[in-house]
Amino acid sequence: MDQYIIKGGKPLQGEVVISGAKNAALGILAAAIMTDGTVVVDNLPCVRDIKVLLQAIEQIGAKVERVDCNTVKISGNYIDSVVIDYEFIRKIRASYYLLGALLGKYKRAKVALPGGCNIGSRPIDQHIKGFEALGASVKIEHGMIEASADKLVGSHIYLDVVSVGATINIMLAACMAEGTTILENTAKEPHVVDVANFLNSMGADIKGAGTDIIRIKGVEKLHPTEYSIIPDQIEAGTFMLAAAATKGDVLIKNVIPKHLDAITAKLLEMGATVEELDDAVRVKGPEKLGSTHVKTLPYPGFPTDMQPQTAAALAVSSGTSIVTESIFENRFKYVDELSRMGASIKVEGNSAIIDGVDNLTGAIVRAPDLRAGAALVIAGLVAEGYTQIEQVENIERGYENFEKKLQGLNADIEKISGDDEKAIKKFKFKVG
Ligand code: UD1
Repeated sequence: MDQYIIKGGKPLQGEVVISGAKNAALGILAAAIMTDGTVVVDNLPCVRDIKVLLQAIEQIGAKVERVDCNTVKISGNYIDSVVIDYEFIRKIRASYYLLGALLGKYKRAKVALPGGCNIGSRPIDQHIKGFEALGASVKIEHGMIEASADKLVGSHIYLDVVSVGATINIMLAACMAEGTTILENTAKEPHVVDVANFLNSMGADIKGAGTDIIRIKGVEKLHPTEYSIIPDQIEAGTFMLAAAATKGDVLIKNVIPKHLDAITAKLLEMGATVEELDDAVRVKGPEKLGSTHVKTLPYPGFPTDMQPQTAAALAVSSGTSIVTESIFENRFKYVDELSRMGASIKVEGNSAIIDGVDNLTGAIVRAPDLRAGAALVIAGLVAEGYTQIEQVENIERGYENFEKKLQGLNADIEKISGDDEKAIKKFKFKVG
C-alpha cells in the first residue's frame, strides 16, 4: 500500500491546473452507454474511480477505448449484459448510475446493492422510488437490485431528500421514457447540470437542471456526441484551502469561479485573499487564518466534500470554529488523525468544535476516505516536520496526480510504495 511523505512548513507557490470533475464524469460515462454510436468524452480526470467505472462498462460488453488518460471513446453497441457485479459497486458506489442508464436504454438492469460506506449510511430509496414512478418494477434479492419494465412512462416525482445520485439516476432513466417526467426537489450541483448537458448533447430533452425542478421529455433514441467535462469544483476547492492554510499564493487554473462561491466566501471570512479571474482563481493565505463557522448544505451551500479540508485549515486558525455536517452522519473520521498531529477538535453530534492551535506537528496518519485524506495532506503541508499518510489509494480515487501537482507548487511531498524505508530516508535526506 502506498503512502505520501510530506515535509510541512513551506507556503504553496505557483500555478496548478484543475482536472475534469470526477462526479460529473461518473454520471456522464454511465450515460454514454445509452446510445449505440461511439461517444467521445474529454477532460476526464485520470483517477481510480473513473478506471473502475470504465471496467464495469467494459464488463457488460461495451467497447471502451482509452485514447489517453483524459479521453475515452465508448461504444454501447456491443452491450450483451445488463448485470453489474458487486465487485464494482464495492469499489465505487456510483456504478449504480448504470442502473438508470441500462433501465432507460434496455428497460432492465440488475446491479449489486451498494453496501455501507465509511462516511455514513447511504440509502438509495429515492432512486428506487423514482424508477418505480416511471413504471419499473424493482425488487431486491440476493444483494442485487433488479429493475425492469415493459415500458417506462414519464411521471411526476418529488424527491424527499435532495440527492445528487437520485437526481442523476432518475434523469438517466427518464430521458428514454415515453412522455414527460417532472422531477422536483432536485440536486442543483454543477455535476448534475453537466450530466444533463451531456445527455442533451446526445439528443435528450432535459430542461431546468441546476434548479429545483427538472423537466425531462423522453426521446426514443440518443445519438453519439463529443463532450468535454467541466472542471472539478472539489479539487479546485482543495487547492484553495491548501494555499490559504500554508500562507501560500496559488493561481488555480481551469476552474469555473461561480462553482466555487461558497468556498471563496468562507476563505474571505477566514482572512484569505481570493481574486476571481475568467477561468481561474488566485488564493493568498494570510499570516494567520481567522476562525469561522461552516455548515454543509446541498449546492449552492457549502459542499460536504470540502468539509474535512476546511476543518484541517481551521485547525491552525486563531479562535474557535464550529463545523456542522448536515449531509452525512459519519464524516469526522479524520478528527482522530488530526488530533494525532496536535489539532484540538471535539466532535459533538454532527458538529466539530475546533480550537485553533499555533501549529500542527507531523505524524504517521491514515487516510480514512477520499476527502478526509485530502484534509490530512493539507495538515501535513502545514505541520512542522514529517507527516506520513497511509492508504493513499483512498485519495487517488478522486485526485489526479495529487502529489505531482503539489510538487509543482513547491511542496515537499512524495509518493512511496509500501513502507519503503530506503525511499523515506532518501526523501528526508533530500529535503533536509
Ligand atoms: C454525491 C457525491 C458525493 C457528495 C454527495 C453530496 C457523487 C459520485 N458523489 O453522493 O461526493 O458528497 O453527492 O454532495 O457524485 N439519500 C437518501 N436516499 C437516497 C439518496 C440519498 O436518504 O435515495 C440521502 C443521503 O443519505 C445523504 C443525502 O441524501 O444524507 C445526500 O446524498 P446524495 O446527494 O445522494 O449523495 P451521493 O449522490 O451518494
